Amino acid sequence: MQISPSILSADFANLERELARIGDADWAHVDVMDNHFVPNLTLGQPVVEALARVSPVPIDAHLMIEAPDRWAPGYAEAGARSVTFHVEAAADAVATARAIRAAGARAAFALKPGTPFEPYEELLDEVDMVLVMTVEPGFGGQSFMVDQMPKVRAVREAVRRRGGEIWIQVDGGVSLDTIGQCVEAGADVFVAGSAVYGAEDVPARIGELRELAAR
Ligand code: DX5
Ligand code: ZN
Repeated sequence: MQISPSILSADFANLERELARIGDADWAHVDVMDNHFVPNLTLGQPVVEALARVSPVPIDAHLMIEAPDRWAPGYAEAGARSVTFHVEAAADAVATARAIRAAGARAAFALKPGTPFEPYEELLDEVDMVLVMTVEPGFGGQSFMVDQMPKVRAVREAVRRRGGEIWIQVDGGVSLDTIGQCVEAGADVFVAGSAVYGAEDVPARIGELRELAAR
């Protein structure tokens, strides 16, 4: 069970300090948005490179961008230890996953709420993690979509059938109230933005989430 706080809800004027607050987490989730794949714009490769230099925990880059085939390996080269791309945007998901791994990072593919898992089951051979979005990608602070839990279950079932060590990440609306449902469905990596950075005591909140995840 791993916790990956999303810095989308952090203070962008003080990112080094904000990363220092999540030293108890397993990863720092960095949301890269290009204003094309999603209607929002955040940061790119040079900023990820800078964050990787000062982060106390490895960077988990979530690319919400067009043409990940072209850009994803660069995020691994920039120092992200895990790079997730969206299948909806990839022209060749197999090649993209392989290029991420060749650049030295863990590779993952993400599914938007409207994207089914089944057509992508074979891709499990090429990745280390699957991200099931539990909100429409683009913004923090949205409500958790409980209707994505059957998809998490389907991925877990496929991973179990095929064997191997593939993590299942959930992202969007994960909080003290909703993390239990994700655990129950079979997720094991939990992204939380507003639930972590909105807390008064950030390390304590990470501990609370971890405790609920371990139940
Ligand atoms: C949304 C991003 C998430 C976001 C989650 O598109 O991918 O990582 O930061 O924020 P919360 O946890 O507030 O829903
Ligand atoms: Zn994300």
